[in-house]
Amino acid sequence: MSTSPLPETVTVTIDGTPSQAWAGQSVTAALVTAGIWPLRRNPVDGRLRGPFCGMGVCLECEVTLNGRPGSRSCTAHVTDGMDIRTHTEPLPTVAHG
Ligand code: FES
Repeated sequence: MSTSPLPETVTVTIDGTPSQAWAGQSVTAALVTAGIWPLRRNPVDGRLRGPFCGMGVCLECEVTLNGRPGSRSCTAHVTDGMDIRTHTEPLPTVAHG
């Protein structure tokens, strides 16, 4: 009986920090494996959001990939050198006057 070889690892950058991931792994899986959760804030109410459907429908997993905002992390696959940016920073406050 033979064993399957381990998948190749690649290096990605998550919010400026280098991290290892399996080649071909979804970006969502790479982020969760790295302990990154949630991935963004709702732009209306500021609540933290994370992947829900895992199949490209709900848009709750959007991140910026290689400078392209609004990328669905659940349907994208990691590639070596990929730059991944989450969006969990607090929303700016607006002064009402
Ligand atoms: S988790 Fe729903 S679109 Fe990615």
